[in-house]
Amino acid sequence: MELETDGTRAGTDGTHAGAGRPTGDGRVVVVGSANVDVVVDVPRHPHGGETVLGGELRRAPGGKGANQAVASALAGGAVTAFVGALGDDDGARLLRASLDRAGVGTDAVRTVPGASGTALITVSPGGENAIVVAPGANGRVVVDDAERRLLAEADVVLAQLEIPVGTVVAAARARRRGVLFVLNAAPSRELPDELWREIDVLVVNEHEAADLAGAGSDAAPDGLAASLLTRVSAVVVTLGGDGCLVARRGEEPVRLAGRRVDVVDTTGAGDTFCGVLAAELARGTDLVAAARVAGTAGALAVTRPGAQDAVPGRDQVLAALDASAG
Ligand code: RIB
Repeated sequence: MELETDGTRAGTDGTHAGAGRPTGDGRVVVVGSANVDVVVDVPRHPHGGETVLGGELRRAPGGKGANQAVASALAGGAVTAFVGALGDDDGARLLRASLDRAGVGTDAVRTVPGASGTALITVSPGGENAIVVAPGANGRVVVDDAERRLLAEADVVLAQLEIPVGTVVAAARARRRGVLFVLNAAPSRELPDELWREIDVLVVNEHEAADLAGAGSDAAPDGLAASLLTRVSAVVVTLGGDGCLVARRGEEPVRLAGRRVDVVDTTGAGDTFCGVLAAELARGTDLVAAARVAGTAGALAVTRPGAQDAVPGRDQVLAALDASAG
């Protein structure tokens, strides 16, 4: 699939605006993690060795992979399937129910003995989170014949790094020729050359970009993107409330502004961005226009608590885009 440069956006006429259900114009396969998010609001994040009293404990569906799959289906309107692994515990029921509710295909979600992935999350009053993940079943996500068949039908394959890197490489290699492989390189880790070679679009926040570029934390997004473009042909650097930077090799980078919203919880906002970006690319939307839709969906997501529970419907995303266009 070619990344066009005309800046057009699909879906503004409302034809994709179902009640947040997949509409069938683009197929996304997300390969990644699913976690039970165990969340507590805190007055501030504790330092090492410190105890902080928090609020009520909540359990909610999360995990970067499952969050992105839910976002692709609900906010992006793409036919979406998830390749992942759940444990044989209670958490698996919560995670499967959320995927089902969003209309995500789960034929390639395996059940393995032991615990599902779990994320321990604290959220501060400004909506900032701190997360520790116990991978559990996510360490056993594989790409075998069944997964390969599914991946061969994708228009876009989307992955992150909460599962074994070998599985991510295998997923990328299982896609048809010309199909885009989008990697959200989160959480940050070193990438092997064989994975770099597969990436069509790299999505990173500033910290991940700095890690991958081997730069300091004060490096400017333009410089980071330029450095990453020596390895991949397209990079999106997400900048939280400040929007994002879309950079393609041989072209001027495009800076998209953020939206002003009341931030409640930033957990999973980046995942909503990635899921919607993949959904838009799957229906043939140009990368810059896709990032604009994704940024709007991500901004709506931070106005509600939770990860998958905060993903907006397709109608809401298109209405917000139309409101800002008019
Ligand atoms: O990106 C947010 C996600 O990171 C959370 O849902 C948590 O499960 C961790 O994977």
